[in-house]
Amino acid sequence: MTGRRLPGPHRGTGPTHEIPRSPASDVLFPAGLWAEAVYSRRAIPATLAEGHAAPGRNEAEIDPFPRGSRFPLMPPPLHLPPPPEFPADPADPSDPAVVSALLHYSYGLLQHDLTPGGWPLHRAVASARCRYPSELTLVTPTGALRFDPLHHQLMFLPSSVTGIQCAESESASRFVVITSRFARTARLYGDYAPRLCAQEAGMLLGAVHLVASALGLRTRPGQDRRTLNDLCAPWLPTAGEHPMGYLELERSTSSGGPVDACPQRPAGQAWPPPDLASVLRARHSGATLFDPEPASAARELTGDLEAALAAAPFSDFSCHLLARSITNLAPGHYIHSEGRLRQVGEGDPLASLERIGQSEGRVSMNFRSTVCVAYLAVRRGTAVARYGDDAFRRLHLGAGAAAHLICVVAARHGLAARVHNGFDAATAERLLGLIPDEETVIFQVAVGAARPSASFRLPVVF
Ligand SMILES: Cc1cc2nc3c(=O)[nH]c(=O)nc-3n(C[C@H](O)[C@H](O)[C@H](O)COP(=O)(O)O)c2cc1C
Repeated sequence: MTGRRLPGPHRGTGPTHEIPRSPASDVLFPAGLWAEAVYSRRAIPATLAEGHAAPGRNEAEIDPFPRGSRFPLMPPPLHLPPPPEFPADPADPSDPAVVSALLHYSYGLLQHDLTPGGWPLHRAVASARCRYPSELTLVTPTGALRFDPLHHQLMFLPSSVTGIQCAESESASRFVVITSRFARTARLYGDYAPRLCAQEAGMLLGAVHLVASALGLRTRPGQDRRTLNDLCAPWLPTAGEHPMGYLELERSTSSGGPVDACPQRPAGQAWPPPDLASVLRARHSGATLFDPEPASAARELTGDLEAALAAAPFSDFSCHLLARSITNLAPGHYIHSEGRLRQVGEGDPLASLERIGQSEGRVSMNFRSTVCVAYLAVRRGTAVARYGDDAFRRLHLGAGAAAHLICVVAARHGLAARVHNGFDAATAERLLGLIPDEETVIFQVAVGAARPSASFRLPVVF
């Protein structure tokens, strides 16, 4: 190993087999959340329907952005060419141009919606009602830098300064760390917020991993709790912001474990897509009510899905695709495994979609004109036995990353993708044939052609 590691994180410890039990006040994701949030959505306050704050929540809870010296980032490039198939050297994660592109296309501000009364600011990743509870921090050998997407700047977190000299830091890895401020989402969603924040942290990790691969960076995604806590310890506030996930950006070819270097592409499929930047600028979740225009997707959509999911940062999920309207693909139930979509059920899945996609006794969107709907399932039973309360974070991280990739595949084909929590997990388990008491669905992503709407979104260029 030639690359010096950052101080702090325990490396190579791998997953612990002890069930972590912490004091109740420390438990971010108490066991009850599976039932309260994933199965019933009971924790969503009724006030949300009218757009009022959840009971007991107010703006004062949303802590302001931390203060510190600010550094403008270089303007991000308008296009991201695909990295060479066999690069001589990986990209350099300390190169300012690489850092700017990585942060902007992972979590930057990409669109401004001018519709009165709408949600004006849209970023590279979807967020429930645009609350954006996640934060991105770049941990370098000399300190931690918080990304401010609104100004396309980095901000030095003073408590993180290490005093390490530049020469010493040359070959060390950098880490992109994801934290979450639950209060931002809780203001609207009350006690349902931890579920959304866990989903969104996973989606953001998928975004950083995807853009890093497009830039030719060598990465190592991690779920390990101890490494995550060690990375955050020097700079994370003691309250209000929670460690969620990280991605290591390697500087040298040395390895302490499996590294994602230019992920293998299935023959004939280009993933990440050429000019990922344009695809990400086109990504969107559709109108307030997901009511797409009837349309068929090109068959290449399934090839892209296979390639994207095969290159996902984690593999602890399975993807069930209920396909309705894809050219030259028989409607039916498909499961993604080993980089391929395998058909396991025939016929139009509309009836199943309308039974699964229920929220408060109503069908939650217009499934009749969707192209397809993806359900991401996880092995909850095994994960809880192994990781205890931390299973919630870990599983949402893996499935969330895959959910973002599905959104990007849809965007590549000119379609909208809607992450929608209006589904009945128990019905999904039954109709998708999941293993009872073991597997459950934690993401529903509907894909369709958005109708022209009153909203008017402008691209944001820094
Ligand atoms: C984790 C998550 C859960 C969501 N749940 C719902 C939902 O239950 N119902 C809904 O209509 N939209 C839902 N959305 C969609 C968001 O409101 C949408 O992504 C947001 O308006 C941002 O739009 P954009 O992705 O086009 O920027 C969800 C999004 C995320 C990320």
